[in-house]
Amino acid sequence: MISKKMEEAIGRGSVIRSMFEEGCRLAEKIGPQNVYDFSLGNPSIPSPDEIRMAAIDILQNEEPTKLHGYMNSAGFEEVRCAIAKHINLRHNINITAKNIVMTVGATCGLCIVFHSILDPGDEVITLAPFFSEYRNYVEGNGGKLVVVPTQDQTFQPDLKKLEKAITPNTKAVIINSPNNPTGVVYSPDTIQSIALLLQKKSREMGRAIVLVSDEPYREIIYREETIVPYVLNYYENSFIVYSFSKSFSLPGERIGYVAFSNHIPNQELVAQGLSMAIRSLGYVNAPALFQKVIGKCIDVPVNVKEYKANMEALFSHLKKIGFSCVKPEGAFYLFVKSPNPNDNEFAESAKKYNILVVPGSFFGYPGYFRVTYCVSNDKIINSFPQWTKLAEEYSLRTEQQ
Ligand SMILES: Cc1ncc(COP(=O)(O)O)c(C=O)c1O
Repeated sequence: MISKKMEEAIGRGSVIRSMFEEGCRLAEKIGPQNVYDFSLGNPSIPSPDEIRMAAIDILQNEEPTKLHGYMNSAGFEEVRCAIAKHINLRHNINITAKNIVMTVGATCGLCIVFHSILDPGDEVITLAPFFSEYRNYVEGNGGKLVVVPTQDQTFQPDLKKLEKAITPNTKAVIINSPNNPTGVVYSPDTIQSIALLLQKKSREMGRAIVLVSDEPYREIIYREETIVPYVLNYYENSFIVYSFSKSFSLPGERIGYVAFSNHIPNQELVAQGLSMAIRSLGYVNAPALFQKVIGKCIDVPVNVKEYKANMEALFSHLKKIGFSCVKPEGAFYLFVKSPNPNDNEFAESAKKYNILVVPGSFFGYPGYFRVTYCVSNDKIINSFPQWTKLAEEYSLRTEQQ
């Protein structure tokens, strides 16, 4: 009864989800305090107080039939206005509510963009390592995912490889900065180079290549001087897919938006396409209550203090005991070189010490593993002796103090 396509997707499964479930089973057996589950990116910092207060205020004061009723599928106009104003102020741009569609998180945002732009046979390029759900989002909406590796060790885009991968079938390129799983951030120069390359290739191929920037970690950065460039300022055929799942710790509430450039050709049609896609994919519209909450809280600062402390502590410890890894500039993941070239075997061996990590193969980049550090700081510190035992198993060399 199930389609072949769905059977294939089920077969690929999600290593992250099954690790997480394994972590829950292990916690029941040996107690949660003894399990070091670094698999799932579930934020550990509570949502800002302002979110709860706004939700209560809205529920108490708004007229229920309006609050809970059907609406324009792009979302409440006043919320989209508030978001456009927020973006314009921060990024020196001039978009309006018309350039915003409220979504059911970044997942919905990516799906409606691909659903709106892809024709059969179209290819979408992603840069590996990549968030593995992209395959479902692209293939589920009629496209073919093409994977292009980033530069060794730095995980920055490899422009030459990207250029070579572009064919007359290329419809879009997805970028994700701050990146899951590496934590790297693409600089303004890098974004400028990608934009110039896509302009050149669009001319050569005689069709617009779309740049899709997936940005759920935009505010989760660790150094004041880090700039996360706003791609709408660099490339006209671009979409930003944003989510409040990570910045405001709201993954279960399913709220985000898509913003598109006001230089994009056929703006009206693009807006209609996204609105049509949100209905035809069965989302209909983003959750009403949380749209309103975001409208009130859009300017609330994002707290990254605990993530930064976790990152610094875990990064230093892993380095000290001989693991090698690029220092993240953002998001909440470390992408560490596996001492066993077979990263699946390595992840299995980590389980002996009750450490759960995700093999790099799952992100299209074997030979590495991902450690998610959005957990309590105690969990990070208590895991150190286990990490040390794991490093000893692989005879890693301890850094001299
Ligand atoms: C890079 C990336 N994109 C998209 C998503 C999906 O986010 P959402 O929960 O908003 O659908 C995630 C979630 O982990 C992610 O890491």
